Amino acid sequence: MVLTIVLVILSYSSEDVSDSDSTILQVDVRNYQIQLKSLGRTFPHVDRFPKCVINTSAEQVKDFHSFPPISKDILYYHHCRHFPMILDIPNKCGGAYGSSDVFLLLVIKSPAVNYDRREVLRKTWAEERLSNGVWIRRIFISGTMGTGYEKERLNKLLQLEQRKYNDILQWDFKDTFSNLTLKQTLFLEWFEKNCPNTQFLFNGDDDVFANTDNMVVYLQHFKRNGGRRHLFAGNVMPQMDPIRHPHSRYFVPEELYRPNIFPDYCSGGGYLLSGYTALIIYNMSHSVPLIPIDDAYMGLCLAKAGLRPEHHIGVRQYGLNVKGKDVDDLNPCFYKEMLVVHRMLSGDMYTMWHRIQDPDLKCSPSDPKM
Ligand SMILES: *[C@@H]1O[C@H](CO)[C@@H](O)[C@H](O)[C@H]1NC(C)=O
Ligand SMILES: *[C@@H]1O[C@H](CO)[C@@H](O)[C@H](O)[C@H]1NC(C)=O
Ligand SMILES: *[C@@H]1O[C@H](CO)[C@@H](O)[C@H](O)[C@H]1NC(C)=O
Repeated sequence: MVLTIVLVILSYSSEDVSDSDSTILQVDVRNYQIQLKSLGRTFPHVDRFPKCVINTSAEQVKDFHSFPPISKDILYYHHCRHFPMILDIPNKCGGAYGSSDVFLLLVIKSPAVNYDRREVLRKTWAEERLSNGVWIRRIFISGTMGTGYEKERLNKLLQLEQRKYNDILQWDFKDTFSNLTLKQTLFLEWFEKNCPNTQFLFNGDDDVFANTDNMVVYLQHFKRNGGRRHLFAGNVMPQMDPIRHPHSRYFVPEELYRPNIFPDYCSGGGYLLSGYTALIIYNMSHSVPLIPIDDAYMGLCLAKAGLRPEHHIGVRQYGLNVKGKDVDDLNPCFYKEMLVVHRMLSGDMYTMWHRIQDPDLKCSPSDPKM
């Protein structure tokens, strides 16, 4: 449950872009921005929701005073679901109507400090491009880090990246492990509004190797409109228990989730889902308390909708377990067949992405097996 992988692919079809609905929508967005500017506002959602207020009644929870600060914060703030948006990309999918042209949307959880990971992903598997005739689009999702000058500096970094790449959604909440569920629900809220017709999404971490070209081919097996049916596929974690120790990074207070087992869920390092399933999860999330384990939370929302995740053999949450002393564990032949492998250093990622595209790469069935 520690690891997260996200793939997002968007496909655009040229006739939809000129569709009159999407033209109207784009005009609306522009007017909206002009109105905001004239009001002197740069952050569209700042005033829409009341500011998050601490719930001091949480202190009544048994042994609360002995909890570490993070576990206290989980209980103090779990009811807070709305935070001001700092960076937005409302036209990423070509407007709500145009968004059916996005085949695969890569949604990558990336805290501001991980600049180098974002840079390498932009040049490798997360590059926005046509793959096998359909569009892949990319979004990094972020909160804020640090306080004072440090926070300002990291916000500035994302702002500069946004100016160049237009690929960041950022909200003003603390980007911690325990707030990843919040990040996901904020994303889904944004998705429903801005990309509801997108066919498929990859959702994952910024330190995984994702073979996005393979993902497209896999997803294209689902017939036309596959994105309008249920799909949630990754590395299924069966029968996990919530951890009840307040000192654990994975602490789940009984106040937020009482049963002693989680429904099956896909490890958050990276999974694929249809646009249809993303919207269902968002709908369910309104009535499921936010537990601080984001991938298990997706499982809770699926279960509430009567849906299940499925296992995909190409998603390796624990890396490739390559056997043998003289075996190169970064042999591109291993990676060519995979969808998602956790985790890989930036330099290896860059090399691997190029090696698996090499037309001269010879892989044979006699190559060592994983
Ligand atoms: C505040 O915390 C108490 C104790 O955990 C809980 O019963 C109550 O529902 C919480 N209030 C909100 C608004 O979440
Ligand atoms: C989540 O973010 C909110 C808003 O920044 C913050 O108050 C809270 O401490 C964070 N929660 C955790 C568990 O990190
Ligand atoms: C969730 O779906 C139901 C049934 O389609 C609908 O009535 C309800 O408004 C939806 N809720 C949200 C918050 O989208």
